Amino acid sequence: MKNVFVNGYGSIGSRIAEFIKDDSEINVIGVGKHSPDEKVDLAIKNGFSVYVPQKKIDNFKNYNISGSIESVLSDCDLVIDASPEGHGFINKKNLYEPNNIMAIYQGGETIYGDNAVSDLIFNSRVNYKKVLQKKHVMQGSCNVTGMGKILEPLRNKYGSNLIRFDVTLVRRWADLDQSDKQLVDTIEMSQHPHHGNDVKSYFGKDAPLFVRAIKVPTRQMHLHIMDIRFSGTAPNVDEIHSLFKDESGVVVLWTATNTKDVRDFANTMKFSFKDTNMVHIHANMSVAINDTVQIMYSDDQTGIVIPENHMLMQAMLFERSYEDALSHTNELFHMGDKKKLLEEHFRKN
Ligand SMILES: NC(=O)c1ccc[n+]([C@@H]2O[C@H](COP(=O)([O-])OP(=O)(O)OC[C@H]3O[C@@H](n4cnc5c(N)ncnc54)[C@H](OP(=O)(O)O)[C@@H]3O)[C@@H](O)[C@H]2O)c1
Repeated sequence: MKNVFVNGYGSIGSRIAEFIKDDSEINVIGVGKHSPDEKVDLAIKNGFSVYVPQKKIDNFKNYNISGSIESVLSDCDLVIDASPEGHGFINKKNLYEPNNIMAIYQGGETIYGDNAVSDLIFNSRVNYKKVLQKKHVMQGSCNVTGMGKILEPLRNKYGSNLIRFDVTLVRRWADLDQSDKQLVDTIEMSQHPHHGNDVKSYFGKDAPLFVRAIKVPTRQMHLHIMDIRFSGTAPNVDEIHSLFKDESGVVVLWTATNTKDVRDFANTMKFSFKDTNMVHIHANMSVAINDTVQIMYSDDQTGIVIPENHMLMQAMLFERSYEDALSHTNELFHMGDKKKLLEEHFRKN
């Protein structure tokens, strides 16, 4: 049994903690909170011990917390850091490195420059074996994870026949649970989205990938619009879809007319947190034109990185083979059942 501490109990941390507490090999020794609010009681109600920064302990006197984050780390085999962007790096320097503890960081961090948390970004489908001996690894963000899940099977099948990928990321404004965050009635353009460079960290800096991003006022997932160019005539779309038949974490849907359709189905089927934990290729939008295949897929922003954190945790804690880790993750997250239900519900008419 390994002791894991989840530092941060927001959109990502609360999901990670809830799923891995059902893993019989893991003892979630607690979760970290920084603000004295109703989520402290929620975490306790959900069965977690709550720890807070030593210097903020006085702010939590009205809550039944279990102690300081600094103290709980001495019992810990690995931390999953789920703090807001940039704080993972600060936590690494102040907490994890001085205590010689392995840590996983989330997609708001970076592997570039002075604030790098790691020297690589994890994507289980692409570079699982590379993290087996690592102590500090960054999990890719939701968009970066989704692109890896789509691009890797294409690269495996078509290799040098792939000439170029052009991707427009249509990013959601906020998460469903972020009720305090208002949607703003505009379309925001990102000048320097990190996603292209993050994906290139595992595909190589010269990978012919061109990414641009806009943010739109929705909470209902990201949508990626991707044009894939081939050196000759492009394969037909059925061939492209068939590549994903047995891919874990990717489904091919035909009759979802919008991203909320998918989220609503997840809710109807009582998937945890209303998440599918996947990307969804909207097959009705796929077109092959001369040398190019155009596809669209939606990316479950909050859900997709959670099984990935579980894969990464198994690699770091147990140095498990990819196949064994995938099988364990698929079982814990019911990935096969969810894929079947989604593909059946949104099947071709
Ligand atoms: N949301 C998504 O869809 C998504 C998807 C993929 C990746 N990510 C990445 O995951 C990370 C977390 O994002 P999130 O959406 O879960 O954020 P969030 O909902 O704002 O939650 C952040 C949590 O971290 C806690 N926190 C604050 N300061 C901290 C610190 N110094 N150390 C540790 N924890 C601290 C907060 O505690 P209090 O509430 O008590 O202040 C809160 O529980 C970011 O890197 C983000 O880019 C997010």
